[in-house]
Amino acid sequence: MTAGAGTRRGRAGVRTARGVPPASGDGANLLELRGLRTHFFTRDGTVKAVDGVTFEIGNGETIGVVGESGCGKSITAMSIMRLIERPGQIVAGNVVMHGRDLLKLSDEQMRDVRGNQISMIFQEPMTSLNPVYTCGDQIAEAVQLHEGVSRRQAWSRAVEMLQQVGIPDAKRRAGEFPHQMSGGMRQRVMIAMALSTNPELLIADEPTTALDVTIQAQILELMKALRERNKMAIMLITHDLGVVAEMADQVVVMYAGKVVERSDVTTVFERPHHPYTEGLLRSIPRLGERRARLEVIRGVVPNPLNLPTGCLFKRRCPYRMPICDTAPPFQEVRPGQYSRCWLTPEHEPPTVGLSPAPEVAEEEAERLTVAPR
Ligand SMILES: Nc1ncnc2c1ncn2[C@@H]1O[C@H](COP(=O)(O)OP(=O)(O)OP(=O)(O)O)[C@@H](O)[C@H]1O
Ligand code: SF4
Ligand SMILES: [Mg+2]
Repeated sequence: MTAGAGTRRGRAGVRTARGVPPASGDGANLLELRGLRTHFFTRDGTVKAVDGVTFEIGNGETIGVVGESGCGKSITAMSIMRLIERPGQIVAGNVVMHGRDLLKLSDEQMRDVRGNQISMIFQEPMTSLNPVYTCGDQIAEAVQLHEGVSRRQAWSRAVEMLQQVGIPDAKRRAGEFPHQMSGGMRQRVMIAMALSTNPELLIADEPTTALDVTIQAQILELMKALRERNKMAIMLITHDLGVVAEMADQVVVMYAGKVVERSDVTTVFERPHHPYTEGLLRSIPRLGERRARLEVIRGVVPNPLNLPTGCLFKRRCPYRMPICDTAPPFQEVRPGQYSRCWLTPEHEPPTVGLSPAPEVAEEEAERLTVAPR
C-alpha cells in the first residue's frame, strides 16, 4: 500500500518551537480541538471515551481518524457536533471554529453551525433520516433553510444531489420514504443531505462501510470532487486504511480515548512511530505481498472501566519497557510527527525518559569536557 495522497494540500511539518502541535491563531485552521474530554458517567463507573483529544483541521484539509472499535472516534465527532446525550458529558476542552468555541454557543447558534458550516454523515443512516418525511423533502428542507431558495428550486437541487450520489431514477426515488430504500441507498441519501448545504467541514463517520466496492469508489470520488470544488475540509473516520491513504492529508490515530499518533499521511504509512500505528498498518493487505494470514494486533482494546496505568497500549505492545508504567507524553518525534510513546525517533529505548537522567547527563558532560593540559 502506498500513501498516494501525500501531502498535496496538507500542512506537514508545521510545528512550533516547543515541539507541540500548532496552537490557535495561525489562521490556517478551520477547526481546532483542544484537550477535549467527553466522559460517560455510568453506574459501573466513568468511561473516559474521549480523554484530552487535541488536533486541528486546516482549511480544505482532509484528516483521517483511525483506530479500533471503541477508541472514541465517533464520540469525538459527536462532541464537535454537540450531540452528546446523557449519561455522556463534555467535561473539558475547546472546539474552536472561526475563533468561536462551539462548546460555548447557545443551542440555537449551534443549530445554525450544524445547518450551515458543519455536516455529519453518521455511522448509522437512520440517526439522521426522519422516517416520516420523503428523502427528497428532507434534502430540500435542508437546502431551503441554508440557501433561502424557493421550494421548487430546493426540490430540483435535492433531485440533483440524489443523482450525484448515484441513485438511479432519482426523480422518482426522491418521493420515497427512508424505509422504502435499502441500507446502501439510505447511506447515499444521507451523504446527499450532508453535502447539499455546501458545508465548510464534512464529518464522515464510516461513510462507505455499508456500501459495495463500486458504490464506495463512486462516493469517495464525489467527496473528492466536492472537496476540490467547495474547498471543503473533511474529517474522515474509518477503519479502512486504504481509504485513508487515498483521501487524507493528515492522519490521527486514536487509542482508548487518546490521540496516540498524528502526522501527514505519507509519514504515517512510511515511517509510523507508535507501535499501535505499526500494528494497524501490519493488519492491512499489501498489494502483491503473499502472506498466509494478516497479522492483527494481539490482545484487545482495554476495558474503559479498567485502563492500565502508564501507557494505555502497554498490555499489547511488543516493545514494552519498565518506563512504560509511566504515561508517555504526546510529543514531536520528527518534524510534524507526534507520538505518545517512550521510544526514541529511531525506535530505541530512551536512556531514561526522554531527557537523560541527571547522572547520565553528568557523565555525558564529563565526557565532553576538554581536560586542561
Ligand atoms: N452511551 C454510552 N454509555 C457509555 N459508554 C459509551 C456510550 N457511548 C459510547 N460509549 C463508550 O465510548 C467509547 C468510545 O466509543 P465510540 O463510539 O466513540 O467508538 P468508535 O471509535 O467510534 O468505535 P467504532 O469503530 O466501533 O465505531 C467506547 O468505549 C464506548 O463503549
Ligand atoms: S510507551 Fe511503551 S508500551 Fe507504550 S507504545 Fe511505547 S513502547 Fe509500547
Ligand atoms: Mg464509531
